[in-house]
Formats: sequence, structure tokens, C-alpha cells
Amino acid sequence: MASAQGFVGREGGFGARYEGIVIVGAKRTAFGDYMGSLARVSPTDMGIVAARAALAQSGLSGEDVDQVIFASVAQSGPDAFYLPRHVGLYAGVPVSRPALLVQRICGSGFEAIIAGAEQISLGKARVVLCGGCESMTRNPIASYGARLGMPMGRPDFVDTLTAELLDPASDTTMGQTAENLAKRYGLGREEVDAVALRSQQRAWEAEESGKLSEVRTPLRAGLLEGEGLRPRRIKLPRGVEVFDRDEHPRRTSADKLAALKPVFAKDGVQTAGNSSGIVDGAAAVVLCDERTAQEHNLRPMARVQASASIGVEPSIMGIAPAPAIRLLLEHCSLSLDDLDLVEVNEAFGAQYLAVERELGLDPAKTNVNGGAIALGHPLAATGTRLVSSLIYELGRRGLKLGMASACIGGGQGTAVLLERG
Ligand SMILES: CC(C)(COP(=O)(O)OP(=O)(O)OC[C@H]1O[C@@H](n2cnc3c(N)ncnc32)[C@H](O)[C@@H]1OP(=O)(O)O)[C@@H](O)C(=O)NCCC(=O)NCCS
Repeated sequence: MASAQGFVGREGGFGARYEGIVIVGAKRTAFGDYMGSLARVSPTDMGIVAARAALAQSGLSGEDVDQVIFASVAQSGPDAFYLPRHVGLYAGVPVSRPALLVQRICGSGFEAIIAGAEQISLGKARVVLCGGCESMTRNPIASYGARLGMPMGRPDFVDTLTAELLDPASDTTMGQTAENLAKRYGLGREEVDAVALRSQQRAWEAEESGKLSEVRTPLRAGLLEGEGLRPRRIKLPRGVEVFDRDEHPRRTSADKLAALKPVFAKDGVQTAGNSSGIVDGAAAVVLCDERTAQEHNLRPMARVQASASIGVEPSIMGIAPAPAIRLLLEHCSLSLDDLDLVEVNEAFGAQYLAVERELGLDPAKTNVNGGAIALGHPLAATGTRLVSSLIYELGRRGLKLGMASACIGGGQGTAVLLERG
């Protein structure tokens, strides 16, 4: 029987330890650059592609799924409200199995997995199809007041992508929160650029060695069909039939990075080269209880051991992986040295480096196949992408314990502890 034991942190935050929850499939689409190859693809379609691939890999079928839990932050299509339901139906999940949308901004892709583990622990599901999808490109230009009319000369339109990256409570953009951390931790431009260069180099190595192709599934132009469902059409740029390679990584150098101008503060350290890329993409995992895995003769890729979330000051939101990881380690009676591999989302180079300094992380075992500076950060897909990267690498290296974590706009952090299956 799967089970969970929750805990509340003494100084805030909460989490849970899980027993008997395994991941049996994990796939993602390639990530398309902002206004790039996935510009005309809805997040639902990306999610369907990732979900079908994760199911196919798992050895389970849509028929076996009891619940669908998917994440998406932006309302990037007129049918965005139906996103998890449509991901499930077009992935072959029967109509009787409900679907839920979750949202914890940049932690959403973790939250889908956490919610899945908790549903299984409660006995409300044996198999959950989880994941996240995001089209940053298709964030709408919205008009919240148009229904009421617009004053002459003052058209009431909002670029929701820009709005999404500003926390109005603390009046800081996400980039400024990284600049705040750079000041607080005394981080210089050169060391922040070095984080970016390492991310790019590792992503290129992972690409060239074929590691990224293992976790990715190709996304094809054409129809997505399902019995009794209106076909959906995926449109890629003219002449492109298959999209299967991340678009954001680039060959760069310390000199090229150093030549870029700061974008968030006049004398700041963050540039286009050392900030996470704005990209589109989706990732999915199949979770089930151990007994179901045994009954179907499946090979678990990893166990979901525990998770924690915690809040921090919104103006330094990027530091939150540090207290989230600490909280989780404390409640699992583990130390950082017990972790074989760590993923800390690279929302910004200075933000990552502040977390590295705060915890004393070893860069040799952190973000070993590159991070969001190279690959991009499609908000709701990121948590699932980090979990997937981690479990494939634990498997390749024959290692045991890994931690994946991300900071979250508004001042939160989430961490998930995984053990190779
Ligand atoms: C930083 C940011 C504003 C840059 O956006 P952008 O200006 O559209 O970025 P671009 O890709 O067009 O790059 C700008 C320039 O830098 C150059 N550049 C970018 N990365 C580079 C690299 N690694 N090496 C060399 N040059 C690079 C580009 O070639 C481009 O040059 P050009 O103007 O001569 O064409 C954007 O990526 C961003 O906001 N990122 C953070 C997103 C975020 O907040 N997410 C949530 C986190 S909580």
C-alpha cells in the first residue's frame, strides 16, 4: 500500500514523505524558443504529445490511468481551461477518469507530481498521469476591461507574458529579484556568466552524447486524434515535419557573454545570456503505486520519496530552493552529502549561484546536463523536466538519491526527493 506522512516546518513550509510511489514513464517535448518552432502549437497539444510518450514508455495505457493532473500557468489558448482534461482524453484516458489543473507558478510541474503522489497515497488513484505544459509565446495580449469599454486614447491591453514576470506585491520583476540576490551574496558578473557558460556547455555535451534525445519525444505536424473526439491539428513552421531538438541552447563563450548588456538593472549582473530562456514545451510522467507496477511487470525508473514547499521574501524569491531543500533533508534525516545528484532550476545565473553558495552545493553534481539558462524555462513544464532529467541521469550513472528544486515567483520554493527505482 502506498502511503504519505505529512509534516509542517518549525519556521514555515510543509512537506510529506511517501512510501510506495514510483515513476514508470517520463518524457518531454523538445523546448522551442520564444516565437520559435512551437509558436503555433497550443500547450494542450504539447501536453498530449508528452503524455502519450510517457504512457507508451511506461508499459501502461490510458485505460490504466485513474486521474490526470496537469499544470499550466498561462491561459495560452481559448480552450486552456480544459487543458488537463484534453491531455487525458487525447492520451487515451477513459472519459470516466477526472482531470485536475494545478498551478504553483514555476513549481507547477513539481506540484502535479506531488498532487499525484498524494492522490495515490490516499487511495484515490493507483495510476496518475502528471505533467506540465507551457506556451510562453502564446501568452495572450489581453484586455481585462474591454467588456466595459476603453477610454479614448488609452487602449486597455496587457502583455500577459510581461505581466507574469512581474510580482506586483513586491513590485519586482523576476530579473530584479535575481539582482537583489546578487547584491546580497556579493556576486559579480564574471561568476554569474561562468554559471551560464557551464549550463550551455553541459547542455551541448548532453545533446551530442544523445542524453537529451532519450528523455525527449518528437512532436510531429499533423492531427492528434482520439475516438469520439474532434481531431486537433499541430502546426509547425512551413517545411518542418518533426520538432525534436531544443532550440535555446547556443554555442557561446566567456567573451561573448561578457559583451552582453545588463537587462534588469543599470549596473546589474543579469543579461540575456545568463538568464533562463523564454521557451515553449511540455513534460509528463506516469506515477503509480508499487503494487500496480509489480502487477503489470513494470520497471520503476524512480521512487518519489518526499517533497517540501516553503515561502520566502518575494523580493528574493530565487533563494527559496535553499530552505526548501534544507526542510526536506531535515525531515528525511539526510544531509547534502547523501544526495548523488541535484537539480536547482536556473531561473537566473545569480539566483542559482546564491542557492549554490547558501547551501554549499557541489557544482560537479548539480545540473549536470545543463539547466534552464541553456534549455529554457517553460514555467509549468520545468518541475517535470527537472524530475525527468534527474531520474534518467540517476539511472545512467547507477546512483541512488537525487533532489530536484525550483524557485517560484512570488517567493516560494519546492523540492522533491527521488530515489532510483
Ligand atoms: C533576459 C531576457 C529579457 C532576454 O530576452 P531577449 O532580449 O528576448 O533575448 P534574446 O534571445 O533576443 O537575446 C538578446 C541578445 O543577446 C544575445 N544572446 C543571448 N544569449 C546569448 C549567449 N548565450 N551568448 C551570446 N549572445 C547571447 C542574442 O543573440 C541577442 O543579440 P542581438 O540583440 O544582437 O540579436 C529574457 O530571456 C528573460 O526575461 N528571461 C527570464 C525569464 C523569466 O523571468 N522567467 C521566470 C523566472 S522566475
